[in-house]
Amino acid sequence: MCGIVGYVGPKPAFGYLLEGLFRLEYRGYDSAGVALQYEKTIGIRKKTGRVSQLAEICKQNPIPGSCGIGHTRWATHGEPSDLNSHPHTGGNGEVVLVHNGVIENYSLLRDRLRALGYVFLSATDTEVAAHLVAYQLQVAVDAGTNPLDAKTCVQAVEAAAAQIKGTYGLAVLFRDVPGLLVATRLGSPLVVGIGRGEHFLASDASPLVGNTDQIVYLKDHETAVITADSFVLHHHDGTAPAVSIQALVQTSRDTELGEFEHHMLKEIFEQPQTIENALRGRLDDEEATAKFGGLNLDPQTLRAIDRIVLTGCGTSWHAGLVGEYLIEGFARIPVEVEYASELRYRNPPMSDRTMIFAITQSGETADTLAAMRECKRKGHPTLAICNTVGSSIAREADGGIYLHAGPEVGVASTKAFTSQVTVLTLLSLLLGRMRHLSYPEGTKIIGQLRAMPDTIRQTLKCFDQVKQVARKYYTAENFLYLGRLFNFPVALEGALKLKEISYIHAEGYPAAEMKHGPIALIEKDTPSVFIAPRCEIYPKVMSNLEEVKARRGPVIAIACEGDTKIAELADDVIYVPEVEEYLQPLVTSIPLQLLAYQIAILRGCNVDRPRNLAKSVTVE
Ligand code: G6P
Repeated sequence: MCGIVGYVGPKPAFGYLLEGLFRLEYRGYDSAGVALQYEKTIGIRKKTGRVSQLAEICKQNPIPGSCGIGHTRWATHGEPSDLNSHPHTGGNGEVVLVHNGVIENYSLLRDRLRALGYVFLSATDTEVAAHLVAYQLQVAVDAGTNPLDAKTCVQAVEAAAAQIKGTYGLAVLFRDVPGLLVATRLGSPLVVGIGRGEHFLASDASPLVGNTDQIVYLKDHETAVITADSFVLHHHDGTAPAVSIQALVQTSRDTELGEFEHHMLKEIFEQPQTIENALRGRLDDEEATAKFGGLNLDPQTLRAIDRIVLTGCGTSWHAGLVGEYLIEGFARIPVEVEYASELRYRNPPMSDRTMIFAITQSGETADTLAAMRECKRKGHPTLAICNTVGSSIAREADGGIYLHAGPEVGVASTKAFTSQVTVLTLLSLLLGRMRHLSYPEGTKIIGQLRAMPDTIRQTLKCFDQVKQVARKYYTAENFLYLGRLFNFPVALEGALKLKEISYIHAEGYPAAEMKHGPIALIEKDTPSVFIAPRCEIYPKVMSNLEEVKARRGPVIAIACEGDTKIAELADDVIYVPEVEEYLQPLVTSIPLQLLAYQIAILRGCNVDRPRNLAKSVTVE
């Protein structure tokens, strides 16, 4: 969580910092702040709320300077307030820094620093880092052997970092050493953009788009020493790692709203295209299978796999559940779907032939990254199903599959989910064709996948029906989402979408399991959304639906076009095209995304920036 930007160069830094913070706001929007160095002072502006509120105060009270840092916060330690906003000041103002991550031993460090006379103004863990750097600087200068210069500043940052337990991405300014920006990381991503006579810093590459196309990803324990004309890397072990410059390929247009009012709606409507992108070049008609360029595993290894672990968080975890049904169905390989936050600390038995897939849109989720590293440490092939090119998980995985869905800006994940499911369908086809699936079966699956973008186009036409349903139910305070087999993970995902953006309590359940608890919640004001397209056990789902109706619970059904039977039972029906059961999650998730969107709009919620959430959860 939290976004960091930095700039050193000939231009006023404020423009880049502000624009960069707008682009990083998805990482947290509890508060925002900037610090700019000007001659031998550092001016700070910070404010609770959005980056636009920061922009407002800076307009009234601008700060000059061509070397600066900025931050957009998702609160971990200390409530969102002006005082707890970053940047934070260390010592008597000689150090100013911003931080992303969590300092786990902050209370111990704070007590030590207090005993040394340092005064704490905020309730954050970050202020500890600021005072610690100031203290280390003081110690070095007081010793008399070090001048107050860039080298000493870097040493102070590294000495402070060595005492921090937890995770950090830090960007530091020094009041008395103008034009110097020092950045270091452990666990929290940082990327440096190289320009002509200027350098940029950011938590991810998005602020760099349009400013430079040359970027360098910092690795853990590396420190970037940045001035307008120079950029060197320093490792905490004293070595100087080689700078590996990569090309940044992205156009800023990808994140523009176009004709849509919100990113979430735009991203929902992009799905025919994003599913097509996930399929492009990956269908092998000749062999009736799927192919991937980046798996980096030979057919022998793939054939030898006896177990797959899919791990992720939030919506990505739900995609994993669909993946379990797909892979077990097509390839007959046992699959576990693990919450990354659990897997990182669990020690489940895994054979030598277990393969791990980390599923992630951002490629930066701290728990997913940690779970992946833990599995790597144990020697398992660890691959990523990831959207963000160049992200930490994409870079650290042994291989992987990109979603090619383009930037997802809305905090509630939509197009990434359907792309993840598409890629998992391809993966199950590949693994299945190496085992149990026949050539004609493979050919049939390919044909159906190829038709999917058009099917999704058709599905999106349900938006008008969804709007009517939303109008009827948007004041409800509880919802149940019920589905079976492939539509059970969809029920979980539908409930999550509603919770995230409309703040309505919603539970997803396997429809038949409802009898073991949630049925007690049914009453006339609690709608149940039944995801009930035709399937092998359609009659069973109908019985579950009857059970709800018998208790006077309103029912909204997601059903296949032409299903008149369900219309007799349900209060409202949203129709979607009929597809094979294993492709249903791609189709049935769409009306649920739209329903959550429309209900949130009617309730006046900020759909793209829901309260308390962040797009990328980079803390544990
Ligand atoms: C956050 C986002 C969710 C997302 C989850 C996992 O909670 O708000 O939309 O599903 O993180 O993120 P990832 O980027 O790893 O898929």
